Amino acid sequence: MEPATLLLMIIALLIAFLNFTRVRKLRSPKKLPPGNLGLPLIGETLSFLKPYSAATIGEFMEHHISRFGKNFSSHLFGNLSIVSTDPELIWFVLKNEGKLFRNDLSFAFKKVVGKYSMSLASGDVHKHLRSTVLGFLSIERLRTVFLQDADHVAVQIMSSWKDGIVISAKDEATKKIMSMSIDNPHIEKLPREYDSFIKAFVCFPLYIPGTKYWKAIQSRKYINDMFKKEMEARIEAKGGRNEGEIEDDFLGWLMKNTDYPQEKICDLLLGVLFAGHDTTSRAISLLIYFLESCPTAVEQLREEHLQIVRSKKQNGEYRLTWDDYKKMEFTKCVINETLRLGNIARFTLRCATKDTEFKDHVIPNGSTVLLHFGAVHMDPSLYEDPTQFNPWRWLSSPGMKATDSFMPFGKGLRTCPGADLARLEMAVFLHHLIPKFDWELAEPDHPIITPLVEFPRGLLIKVRAVSAC
Ligand SMILES: *[C@@H]1O[C@H](CO)[C@@H](O)[C@H](O)[C@H]1NC(C)=O
Ligand SMILES: *[C@@H]1O[C@H](CO)[C@@H](O)[C@H](O)[C@H]1NC(C)=O
Ligand SMILES: *[C@@H]1O[C@H](CO)[C@@H](O)[C@H](O)[C@H]1NC(C)=O
Ligand SMILES: *[C@@H]1O[C@H](CO)[C@@H](O)[C@H](O)[C@H]1NC(C)=O
Repeated sequence: MEPATLLLMIIALLIAFLNFTRVRKLRSPKKLPPGNLGLPLIGETLSFLKPYSAATIGEFMEHHISRFGKNFSSHLFGNLSIVSTDPELIWFVLKNEGKLFRNDLSFAFKKVVGKYSMSLASGDVHKHLRSTVLGFLSIERLRTVFLQDADHVAVQIMSSWKDGIVISAKDEATKKIMSMSIDNPHIEKLPREYDSFIKAFVCFPLYIPGTKYWKAIQSRKYINDMFKKEMEARIEAKGGRNEGEIEDDFLGWLMKNTDYPQEKICDLLLGVLFAGHDTTSRAISLLIYFLESCPTAVEQLREEHLQIVRSKKQNGEYRLTWDDYKKMEFTKCVINETLRLGNIARFTLRCATKDTEFKDHVIPNGSTVLLHFGAVHMDPSLYEDPTQFNPWRWLSSPGMKATDSFMPFGKGLRTCPGADLARLEMAVFLHHLIPKFDWELAEPDHPIITPLVEFPRGLLIKVRAVSAC
């Protein structure tokens, strides 16, 4: 066959294919947002999940937003999907959970998080679990217990850092942070099992020995067994001790304040480990990464933290207090900017339970609604120069963007209950890092969205001791 003929055939096939997708598009119900349904069955899922660099929204979203606008239709995870990057539509959907939309997790995911998990529960059950977690994370405990814990953890992490050494910032951030939800010497093995567990969220759910999904379920079992052993050990030890001596971690708190069965405690603990500690350590890695390329922000942070250190010295205080935290104004801008640009929780899914009309669009019953927070945070009409790390943008309009277009922890009923704790941990970490150390990347690395935020090389940094105070 001549090359020209071959080329013609390919073009003909392409045209046929394009027509096919166009027909599918036209057949879709009226007033569905514009879009492309892609290939039969898998739709556009593969291109949606293709890894891309953090601090961007990825090729798929870029292409679809420029072609179809801020709301568009697609075919993702096996269902007709409405993708929205419009804060108003996002809030409408979140607000109507339980009425027009329900929380949506695939079957495969249920097996991983456990039946008592907060992310599966809805209605009153969810409300109850949430208030349990909020009880643990109360503002009083934040100001006292957690502030001291975070302080202690940060000091401990950095105690082994020496001038000139190369470390994996990702490992350092993961190491000690976990000890806050379950304080146990066997914890060292946990990060490894945990890494494997977490891959379940981004792999194909095929339960056959050897697959990632299978390994994840095995890791879940291992982690659960460890939780159970720890619980039994504590019940045994309790006989000889007073109330006050009981460990002040999440496990201890659940055992003391609830009468939940073992399995329920395990699911909640695992959820806190995932939603809380894992994401916080990713956020701390991002802080280290973004600040490395922004020396002026590091300067300004150093100024702020040294000021706090000096005034504490003058007053003869040593322990970090809530008042100190309140003084960390620029630090809070840096944290917001890191959360905005790093977008650790990029999107969430809901399922429409009725045909719903909102303004000019129809969302059909049974369709998946994908709320893309990441794309809102990178919208040039809301944030000037959105791909730039610019903490000062938060100084010029503090809180202005907070209400509707800044949702790093989600919004509504399912706002992350650990949001304040995460911010506190990040700030306290910076408080110890910035006055004592400078750092640079030991080898090129950058965060990739898989859709978890990951550093392919573990973010190796070379630290230098600073003698400023
Ligand atoms: C997206 O949808 C919402 C709700 O229907 C609407 O208010 C908004 O204008 C839409 N945005 C665009 C860019 O079409
Ligand atoms: C939505 O669809 C589900 C199943 O697809 C059906 O059971 C339910 O009755 C529908 N709801 C409405 C309000 O049409
Ligand atoms: C797909 O839609 C069906 C109902 O039509 C729903 O039960 C299922 O949870 C949806 N799956 C996903 C992954 O959204
Ligand atoms: C950071 O974002 C939160 C909303 O998540 C907002 O309440 C706060 O005011 C922002 N901080 C600054 C310094 O703008």
